[in-house]
Amino acid sequence: MSVMRTKGIEESIAETDEPEYALKKSLGWLDLTVFGIGVIIGAGIFTFTGVAAQAYAGPAIAISFVVAAIVCCLAALCYAEFASTVPVSGSAYTFSYASLGEIVAWIIGWDLLLELALGAGVVSQGWSSYANLLLNDMGIHLPDALAPKGSDNPGGQFNLLAFLLIAILTALVAWGIKESLRVNMILVGIKLFIVVFVIIAGITFINTANWSPFIPPSTATPPGQGITQPLIQAILGWTPSTYGIGGIFAGAGIVFFAYIGFDVVATTAEEAKNPQRDLPIGIIASLVICTILYVLVALVITGMVPFSKIDPNAALATAFRDVGKSGFATIISCGAVAGLTTVVMTLIIGGTRVLFAMSRDWLMPPGMARTNPATGTPIRITIGVGIVVAFIGSWLGNHVDLEEMVNIGTLAAFTLVSISVPVLRKKRPDLKRAFTVPWSPVVPILAAVASIYLMLNLSIETWIRFLVWMAVGFAIYFGYGYRNSRLAKGESGRSAAAEQVPSR
Ligand code: ALA
Repeated sequence: MSVMRTKGIEESIAETDEPEYALKKSLGWLDLTVFGIGVIIGAGIFTFTGVAAQAYAGPAIAISFVVAAIVCCLAALCYAEFASTVPVSGSAYTFSYASLGEIVAWIIGWDLLLELALGAGVVSQGWSSYANLLLNDMGIHLPDALAPKGSDNPGGQFNLLAFLLIAILTALVAWGIKESLRVNMILVGIKLFIVVFVIIAGITFINTANWSPFIPPSTATPPGQGITQPLIQAILGWTPSTYGIGGIFAGAGIVFFAYIGFDVVATTAEEAKNPQRDLPIGIIASLVICTILYVLVALVITGMVPFSKIDPNAALATAFRDVGKSGFATIISCGAVAGLTTVVMTLIIGGTRVLFAMSRDWLMPPGMARTNPATGTPIRITIGVGIVVAFIGSWLGNHVDLEEMVNIGTLAAFTLVSISVPVLRKKRPDLKRAFTVPWSPVVPILAAVASIYLMLNLSIETWIRFLVWMAVGFAIYFGYGYRNSRLAKGESGRSAAAEQVPSR
């Protein structure tokens, strides 16, 4: 049996009609664009902009945003072609199963789970910091052990607010995606309003002296922080440094987090009414809108506050407090709470859909993928994902920095998806492609190279953790999926396992 076996595309599409695995087709292009913006704008712009500006790039963080956007745009074109050709739940995982083979699909699925489940946990922690700020304003103070951990509360043990948020959102997602999206639409409206508010209200407070020098000169990284330096510095034997041109790329590796999510739009392919047309629109429109907003926000914040003084926890709100506008700061905190809610919810939805696709292919136990006839959603998987995310958000994130892990998992998936585009074109030139990447294979190769370059700009520590994650993934694949997948078992295995699935 070969680990490079591929799954037929027609077969993938046909399976979406099997009643016990069917998802409701209810989403249009506007739903998808809103869904995209809902998951893209989140902790990245509300939190990590400040961190990355201060620690890596200075005002040039605006350029870091452009660099990250270019990488994402290249990858988005590849995602759009795939989503318009193989409109099946599971995003990149499914695309690669059809083109590069089972082992690659498994790796991508495993990377996507890292992106989505860890991402939801990380953003839930950002959410809890803002929510706690608002509670404090109202005079409500949680015990230190249950409050979000941070520089002001090093004793945080269990993040109660993050836990409650995830519990409520998991229930909402299990109830039904259309209903969830309606809530999403309102929250996305509030979030967009806040981001535009920051830009317009902030412009008048810009002091152009803060932009000079726009690219701070590169400085040596303090000794003893070797493991936190970007891998590329170690490979090329550069003296560890921050700021300068290298800082722009290291910053891009961090703020890349702010763009994560456009690819999640592709995970809902099966629930789209007209996926061939609407998915490319949803993916590309949400990405373009967010890029414009991010660059403007980055310019405004670094113009309002000298970069060394930017608050790494709540950059946007604190910038307004610093110029004497505390009321504005409270509005921004409220917006962040609303905005980050949609991100956590959408990442949970994406995570459930990837796992759904993997277990429908029996790379995970097939009984998990059953959809509930009343809600049309995979309830078992949703609850399972909710429990894992709750663990990450309420406990694990208190002990380990996870955001770079989210980035590296996503970039690894981008790389493989980009390579899949020319491969699938060669293997299946006959397939109808409603959207095609221009200048293939040049653009897909550029997308892969750019993604790898950003990965190399992440820290050595992150690479070590990522390799451990991949090792665990391989152990599970060779211990279970390799022998039990639909492809491994063929049709006879298919009926045998169908009997094992409890009847509804
Ligand atoms: N892009 C999302 C965020 O910034 C994950 O929170």
